[in-house]
Amino acid sequence: MSISTEQFQLTKLSKSGGCAGKIGPGELSHILSHLSTVTDPNVLVGTSTSDDAAVYKISDDLALVCTSDFFSPMVDDAFLFGEIAAANALSDIYAMGATPLFALNLLAYPSLALPPVHLGEMLKGASTKVIEAGTSTIGGHTVENPEIKFGLAVVGTVHPSKIWRNSEAEAGDILILTKPIGSGIVADAIKKGECPTDAFTETAHTMSSLNKVASEAMIRSNIQVNACTDVTGFGLLGHLFEIAEGSGLEATLELSKIPTIEGVKELIKNGYVPSGTHKNLQYLRKNLESQSTISEEELLLLADAQTSGGLLFSIPKESLEAAKNALLASNVLCAVIGTMHEGTAGKITILDN
Ligand code: CO
Ligand code: CO
Repeated sequence: MSISTEQFQLTKLSKSGGCAGKIGPGELSHILSHLSTVTDPNVLVGTSTSDDAAVYKISDDLALVCTSDFFSPMVDDAFLFGEIAAANALSDIYAMGATPLFALNLLAYPSLALPPVHLGEMLKGASTKVIEAGTSTIGGHTVENPEIKFGLAVVGTVHPSKIWRNSEAEAGDILILTKPIGSGIVADAIKKGECPTDAFTETAHTMSSLNKVASEAMIRSNIQVNACTDVTGFGLLGHLFEIAEGSGLEATLELSKIPTIEGVKELIKNGYVPSGTHKNLQYLRKNLESQSTISEEELLLLADAQTSGGLLFSIPKESLEAAKNALLASNVLCAVIGTMHEGTAGKITILDN
């Protein structure tokens, strides 16, 4: 975090506020159904499996990984917002097991309403994260717009046989999550000017942290990753649903094992739940089976629309100890939150233990 932007409220130039204002999973699959069928054999990952990024094969040992992400500010600090936007956009590259090559800025902003100093801070924040990712921003596009929207398109590379898809989890796999959930709830409280300092600090840290460390730790230690995705706008439940459905498997989550941002449960009780989170739960409910002791608030938290959330790995049971060691040695949270197994494709059972 850099200069103080306390007098200037970036979030007031946003109607929706981050991922929380995103369209729901149902709406997205409807929109994507209008795309024409892809016949190019070099398309290794397209839109059919709701994966994090597109993957295009260039040669037998090289594929390009491409993604773009942009949204409205969920925090008032322009530098921090830039950091979050970049960490969030880069995340889809890491969720594919890939390495970023370069980034492009995507920016829409109201030039009269937004003082240049804040715009500069925002771009500086993003650039800090792009540099931390070991890459650079080499272009982009800017348009005039009444609301701020900022993000990046990122291009990376991966070996075609080492792509971490979201559709190849196997029965018996263990699910690992690398960041706590609840950032959408906190963003809702920030927007209403009623966020406790501790929750803000933890959320700012988690949203601006790169998933690079987790991704590289798994690759470096040769951990077999059967499936991976990052937890963003559709929430933990929505992105796990994509893994389960895509892999033709059922998932079980253990509620008490799921890491959450401190103070978030209190915020939900006080009514801070973004519309995107409600939408996610509404869409996913038919796929959920939860023990009767699990409250509606707890389900909302599991469905909470995240900004720049952690990686969700599905790995073989035999790799668990090695994965734990790899992540913990890199100071990455390693929460073992559930399992994948045979059953109804896309179904998620939530246990209260
Ligand atoms: Co993603
Ligand atoms: Co994306």
